[in-house]
Amino acid sequence: MAEFKHRNIIALRDLTREDIELLLATAENMREINSRDIKKVPTLRGKTIINLFYEASTRTRTSFEIAAKRLSADTVNISPSTSSATKGETLADTALNLLAMKPDIIVMRHAVSGAHYHLAKKVSCSVVNAGDGAHEHPSQGLLDLLTMKDWFGRLDGLKVAIVGDITHSRVARSDIQGLTKMGSHVYLAGPPTMMPPAVERLGSVTVCATMKEAIQDADVVMMLRIQQERQGKTLMPNAREYSRYFGLNPENLKLAKPGAMVMHPGPINRGVEMSSYVVDGSQSHILKQVENGVAVRMAMLYHVCGGELE
Ligand code: CP
Repeated sequence: MAEFKHRNIIALRDLTREDIELLLATAENMREINSRDIKKVPTLRGKTIINLFYEASTRTRTSFEIAAKRLSADTVNISPSTSSATKGETLADTALNLLAMKPDIIVMRHAVSGAHYHLAKKVSCSVVNAGDGAHEHPSQGLLDLLTMKDWFGRLDGLKVAIVGDITHSRVARSDIQGLTKMGSHVYLAGPPTMMPPAVERLGSVTVCATMKEAIQDADVVMMLRIQQERQGKTLMPNAREYSRYFGLNPENLKLAKPGAMVMHPGPINRGVEMSSYVVDGSQSHILKQVENGVAVRMAMLYHVCGGELE
């Protein structure tokens, strides 16, 4: 089996296809632990993991914590409202002070794109990115890949449509990196105001003029959240108009391949990005994505710790 040589996981852009395959294979193995009555193994016993979340999170924070606990690591959660960031402490100083307590991994979410590269230069422990600004969200990208691979048994050759606020989406960036490295074909659609100017720099993608073009014959339709907190100004006339041109509903879903997967990283704006019929419908894999998130994060924590089994 290949060896994982990275101390940090900050972006799927930094990983090779072999690294991604290894993480997915490990996550597949980790799933067995999650189906046991007693969901705990001693793999990371004695390791300390700090979850440092400067932005809100339900899925990622909870799932990193569960992942760590299932591997018997000790976890500490820090949120901005209870940290000294509120008193003006810099990220570098926070990092050095946390490092003095000898953690093995810092899992961080931060609003600034690239903050993790800055952190990784300051600390000797591992750094895992739980989402940085509009840059990347590697654990989301990996869990999305795993969910598609589960369903199709492969990633190579899939047509994956990613629809919505591409400019501000770290999920889109990680998905593009992961999917194109694994041989999938990525089609992007979204309002022109939510499409980055040099979109081709995101990777080998096809940019579509309409949502219809992107989802036509797609194997997977990945809808994105409108990142209003990052937009700074209004980028759409109103939610109803957005939904009309870029929302997924049972009618336009028929354009995709029969039984196409419907995915969304969450949280969802029901009735805007997707109708509730689709969110809760038979083609939705949204909760499977969340379920796979635990196994993927177990694999990430395991490999940045050196991949040694106790
Ligand atoms: N998908 C995702 O990152 O969700 P949270 O913001 O709840 O972590």
